[in-house]
Amino acid sequence: MSFSYEGERVLSDVSLELPRGSVVGVVGKSGSGKSTLCRLLMRFWDPDRGSILVSGERIDSLDTGCLRSLEALVEQDTQLFHDSIRDNLLIARPDATQEELEEACRAASVHDFVTSLPQGYDSMVGELGDTLSGGERQRLGLARAFLHDAPLLILDEPTSNLDSLNEGTILRSLDRQRGKRTVLLVSHRASTMSLADASFSMDDGRVS
Ligand SMILES: Nc1ncnc2c1ncn2[C@@H]1O[C@H](COP(=O)(O)OP(=O)(O)OP(=O)(O)O)[C@@H](O)[C@H]1O
Ligand SMILES: [Mg+2]
Repeated sequence: MSFSYEGERVLSDVSLELPRGSVVGVVGKSGSGKSTLCRLLMRFWDPDRGSILVSGERIDSLDTGCLRSLEALVEQDTQLFHDSIRDNLLIARPDATQEELEEACRAASVHDFVTSLPQGYDSMVGELGDTLSGGERQRLGLARAFLHDAPLLILDEPTSNLDSLNEGTILRSLDRQRGKRTVLLVSHRASTMSLADASFSMDDGRVS
């Protein structure tokens, strides 16, 4: 599979298989195309050449709703809306119960933070989440993905803003889900990459 942004080749003949239930790591220097790969899996764009299959189906043959139910993405920056923390998380699964919401937040090491706020889960997030720290936003992004419960979880630098205590909680949560979900894990941190069953290296748009 190959991909270019407006004629600028970013991914060249990338071929990658994610065995069901495994954690596959991707490392590589800044600009090598890791986030682009994550976004192509979500079908933000289509490859110029080649195809991407999820559960044996070409993603360009699935309708958007179906694709969204199969995949959850945590991006390097978590987008939050000017709404309550609860509503920001429920986007992932509107019919989730309070219990399920709290379970996802505990797994993402953010439940204690949320309950420490005077309004708890009803606290309003400022526009673009700028009242929250980078680590708090990142953990809310992870909680949203955990709540989603999709079989493929795509994590782009999910621990980059976390201290080692919070990172440890997240890694244990991911480890508990091992076998139940397939995880594509992009990270520069060796401690986070230690979770991966196998890892690939990206260099200038090529995978090895
Ligand atoms: N929307 C875009 N339009 C044009 N070029 C882009 C776009 N997004 C990324 N690029 C370029 O594509 C290349 C790969 O970027 P990408 O974000 O995939 O790298 P990365 O491996 O995730 O880097 P990092 O480790 O810094 O997150 C870079 O040269 C980048 O400048
Ligand atoms: Mg990136």
